[in-house]
Amino acid sequence: MKIAILGGTGSIGKGFALRLNKKHEIIIGSRDAGKAKATASEYNDILTNRGIKAEIKGTDNKTAAENADVILIAVKYNHIGSVSELIRPVLNNQIVVSVVVPIEKDYCYIHPDTTSLKIPVSREDYNANYFCYVTPPAGSAAQELAALLPANIELVSAFHNVPAKKLADLDVELDYDIGVSGNSMHGKKVVFDLVRDISNLRPLDVGPLETSAMIESLTPLIINISAKNKLKNLGIKFL
Ligand SMILES: NC(=O)c1ccc[n+]([C@@H]2O[C@H](COP(=O)([O-])OP(=O)(O)OC[C@H]3O[C@@H](n4cnc5c(N)ncnc54)[C@H](OP(=O)(O)O)[C@@H]3O)[C@@H](O)[C@H]2O)c1
Repeated sequence: MKIAILGGTGSIGKGFALRLNKKHEIIIGSRDAGKAKATASEYNDILTNRGIKAEIKGTDNKTAAENADVILIAVKYNHIGSVSELIRPVLNNQIVVSVVVPIEKDYCYIHPDTTSLKIPVSREDYNANYFCYVTPPAGSAAQELAALLPANIELVSAFHNVPAKKLADLDVELDYDIGVSGNSMHGKKVVFDLVRDISNLRPLDVGPLETSAMIESLTPLIINISAKNKLKNLGIKFL
């Protein structure tokens, strides 16, 4: 399959490109086609130096999306609006996968809509040295995306809890569960296979798209536990 990774020049995009290259045609998307090409070349070098055949391509986000079977949205939550607007005109039968986690440091108890209530408090006073899930108005990042994309698009939410550094380190054998939410069973089955294409990851059906917040919100929990307990690159595994 042709997989476009929008924001593929970033931390988590790198891991997807390196790991999914084995079985798929990877197109890195960026706001800047030149940056995407340079990044694709860097990823190809990493793979060819390990004796792995690689022909990862790079282009702008819109062209990447247009030419793909599956589109991974790998940008920060506050960029999903501009990215959705950009790709809307070129969407037809692509499956869109959201890996987006709306996460904030500080102001954790204040809803993002109520910006006027944001009172600057020093980190020491607030003791806010941790991350939290900031629930978007639609309920989750994936539901926000669903509202921004055409109604017929198969949108699947997955991969939120896998740490970018481990995903991009091909020396690491991953051993995580990947929760998958979505309303289209066909779309979810395609993503289950993508998860299985990454050695030792196990896809688990979480339910319809409405369940995405449950799995998205585990990410700040994992990051906080990692930071507070000096445990690097944690993920989830259901036993
Ligand atoms: N990092 C993790 O461990 C991890 C794990 C699971 C899920 N996630 C989720 O994956 C997403 C990406 O995370 P990340 O850590 O990879 O982020 P990142 O490295 O900061 O950014 C990803 C890409 O976003 C693009 N970007 C930056 N500003 C933008 C803008 N204004 N409009 C459109 N694109 C913009 C950049 O690409 P260009 O400059 O090339 O356009 C950048 O390379 C997030 O939603 C995050 O919650 C991350």
